[in-house]
Parts: sequence; C-alpha cells; structure tokens
Amino acid sequence: MSSDFIPIANINDLPPGTCTSIETEDWGVALFNVDGHIFALNNTCPHAGGPLGEGIIEGEHVACPWHDWKFHIPTGICQKNPTPSWNVACYEVRVVEETIQIARPSPPS
Ligand code: FES
Repeated sequence: MSSDFIPIANINDLPPGTCTSIETEDWGVALFNVDGHIFALNNTCPHAGGPLGEGIIEGEHVACPWHDWKFHIPTGICQKNPTPSWNVACYEVRVVEETIQIARPSPPS
C-alpha cells in the first residue's frame, strides 16, 4: 500500500449523503460521504464503465447511474456479481484540515 497521499477535494464540497466523480488525466476516483465517513473507490464501474461517483447512495451502497448495479462503498464489493473481478478498487482516505487526500496506488511492477 502506498503512503503517497494526494489532495483531491475539499471536505466542504462533499456533505454527508453525497458523492462525486474526480477525473484526472490518468485516474478516476469516486468520493463518498456516508454519515460523515469519507470513502474513495475507482470511479469506473466494471460492468460497462459508468461513473460510480455520479451514482445514488443507498445506505452503504452506491447504485451505478448507468444500469443500477450496486457496490458496497467501504469495500468495493459488487452486490450483483460478488466475485473479485467485478469488485472496484478502494483507496485509502484521510482528511487533513479541510482537504480530502487519497493514497494513489503504486503502479504494477
Ligand atoms: S456501467 Fe455500471 S451497472 Fe452498467
């Protein structure tokens, strides 16, 4: 696991019960605020590429906006097909003052 945290959003822009997509040139992150707890998942739905950060939060799950597959936000586990190939990656998150930071995963070696 990387300790290379990068700032990605302001906590004031992500109130409880909301989510957002953050796209950079090489990386897409879905940020979620579930009852004050911040989580980050890969933004790309493994089904057909929908933006999970634009989905609907239902408790601890997000429903993909394209075809309604649901993913467990704290773990990335896909409810519809709970096998590892359908799960989405979770990223470490920390909040420093008002800045949400996430750990960029190390590139495969
Ligand atoms: S692209 Fe997400 S459920 Fe189809």
